[in-house]
Amino acid sequence: MTQKLNVYALPTLVDEEELAGKTVVVIDVLRATTTICCALEAGAREVIPCLEIEEARRMAEQFPPDEVVLGGERGGLPIDGFDLGNSPDEYRPESVSGKSLVFTTTNGTRAMLRCRRAARVLLASFLNASAVLRELAALDEIHLVCAGTEGQYSRDDILLAGLLVDRLERSGAGRYEMNVQAITARENWTSSFAVPYVIGAEPMDPEVLAAELRRSEAGRRLTAIGQETDILTASLVDHLSLVPVLDTDSMRIRSE
Ligand code: MLT
Repeated sequence: MTQKLNVYALPTLVDEEELAGKTVVVIDVLRATTTICCALEAGAREVIPCLEIEEARRMAEQFPPDEVVLGGERGGLPIDGFDLGNSPDEYRPESVSGKSLVFTTTNGTRAMLRCRRAARVLLASFLNASAVLRELAALDEIHLVCAGTEGQYSRDDILLAGLLVDRLERSGAGRYEMNVQAITARENWTSSFAVPYVIGAEPMDPEVLAAELRRSEAGRRLTAIGQETDILTASLVDHLSLVPVLDTDSMRIRSE
């Protein structure tokens, strides 16, 4: 049987309706999905994605102060009055363990909320790529939604989508019917790295991937605001084995 595998280089390239009832993977390598992986790994109880800053503040007020952390960014920078920004390295056990993280970012949380009608929403970064692939292996229909950067596609997201497409195809788990964006993402991934990385002879040197991510739209923006060390953190392929899953009823992200 042929399975369906679609990539959308931006959330706006797919109708919310088309994702209804489906399994969707949201990708925002620099940095929202990377940071959420780190927050859950550091012991955050859950992540609550919010579209707007004021909405996030109101949500946080519903918790006892010692049980909640407010995190996120605008323009890549920490938000006034928030506890944490959007650097994955800020999310450590001492800052988030046992707490609910209320989180708002410019593109990543927006992409997640666009998938609220899906049956299952997984969050992917390079950090948990293999863990996400294990969840996708047996599925008949998979949609990979890239967050992009302020309405522009960003190569960091496309590269991870390409890795996922490539690995799914190579796994022999199925025969995939792909949209053009999935084929393009895969070509981006395979043409960016010389053998042996592309044939799966990992671990990949994080510096090699980081060099490529720095050239992406999101990578250039982070470099311009002095946050380029996050790019190396985001390049640690398969560093984590958790998969953040957005429960679309409660709109909470928890670890699987
Ligand atoms: C976002 O969700 O907009 C990004 O993660 C931006 C950033 O890198 O801070």
